[in-house]
Amino acid sequence: MKNYISLEESLFRNLDAFEIDFVPEIFNFREAQLKDIVSAIQPGMQGNRPINLVLRGLPGTGKTTAVRQIFSQIRTSTQRIIPVYINCQAEGSKYAVLAKIYAGLHKHQPPAKGVTVRQLIEDLGKTLMEREAVLLVCFDDANYLLPGNLLNNILYLLLRLGEEFPKARVGVILPMCNMDVDLRQALDPCVISVLQSDEVYFPPYREDEIGEILHDRIKAGLAPGVISNEIFSFIVDHTMRSGDIRVGLDLVKRSVMAAERDGRPVVTKEDVMTSFRDSGYVHMEAAIRALSTEDRKIVGHIAGLSIGDQPFLTPGEIFEFVNLSMQISQSGLSERLRKFADMGLLEFCQLIGNGRVQAIALRYDPVRVASACLG
Ligand SMILES: Nc1ncnc2c1ncn2[C@@H]1O[C@H](COP(=O)(O)OP(=O)(O)OP(=O)(O)O)[C@@H](O)[C@H]1O
Ligand SMILES: [Mg+2]
Repeated sequence: MKNYISLEESLFRNLDAFEIDFVPEIFNFREAQLKDIVSAIQPGMQGNRPINLVLRGLPGTGKTTAVRQIFSQIRTSTQRIIPVYINCQAEGSKYAVLAKIYAGLHKHQPPAKGVTVRQLIEDLGKTLMEREAVLLVCFDDANYLLPGNLLNNILYLLLRLGEEFPKARVGVILPMCNMDVDLRQALDPCVISVLQSDEVYFPPYREDEIGEILHDRIKAGLAPGVISNEIFSFIVDHTMRSGDIRVGLDLVKRSVMAAERDGRPVVTKEDVMTSFRDSGYVHMEAAIRALSTEDRKIVGHIAGLSIGDQPFLTPGEIFEFVNLSMQISQSGLSERLRKFADMGLLEFCQLIGNGRVQAIALRYDPVRVASACLG
């Protein structure tokens, strides 16, 4: 039988280099931002509270990568600072967030049953005092914890920990891709007064920078000669049009896979054009992958209901359907819907008929959404 699986013939040198959570070895154009973050964290090295930070920038501007790089350096160079990374798209409660912090401190999960939020907080305070360590939490895409005042309540607990447990110091980093969020409006004054954050801005990459980033990634991930200069410019051009480096990385991966499927050693313009259509789904797929199992189920239900000629749904219709298979309150569902809208998965609109009715519509083809929800 013909050998269909041949690693030697692969056009990829390292397919991982195109995965969404890949941390690149070369991380150019963000020296100023890295320096600002490190200097805010520096007080933690002497056991003092770091300066809290908000990282602002459009999607794909390197906020998460910057934090991951710095956290991995902290892990290998000091025990004074304990970094904990939390993906806020995946966490939906105070308990879930504190359990993540517990796992970061103790390298294992808290007991599955019978532990309260209060006990997790006490454990955190005591552990930090015993270890004389500073906790540094990154709430990545923190804007997703705004519905239901979750971010507010969690920050209140963490940033005021030192009042009850002297010398228990906590710093936070809040990367946000939503440029419109004004934290002074979104958080209570008593939280703002302890947060006192500085802001670090991540500007969009210029065309030459996009070119260099893609070039480095192609070098790390592909066999030589798979993408010609002409095709490379074509890819950079499409990436600029989409405004997101992630689309460019996905475009390279999909185009090379298309060439491989056809048994060709090089990528053609057609490969890129066909893949560009699919790369439009890269945000949706990444967002759905990051959701908790329960949230993914809800989005799956919405997609199921939207397939066919039912693109607009009222929150009431969704509630009735979702409620058949999971326990959720109406207000809990509204918070989730707002979060999904923030993530760009759906949008709110007004239906005009017998008066105005609020409705929601998925922003992507429901069949694609349903299949992404199934995994
Ligand atoms: N300067 C850079 N050099 C190399 N790769 C980069 C650079 N900036 C971003 N990337 C790559 O682009 C992708 C998106 O970056 P990242 O996840 O850090 O963006 P982000 O600002 O956190 O976006 P979002 O707001 O959507 O979460 C990642 O695959 C990352 O490796
Ligand atoms: Mg990010």
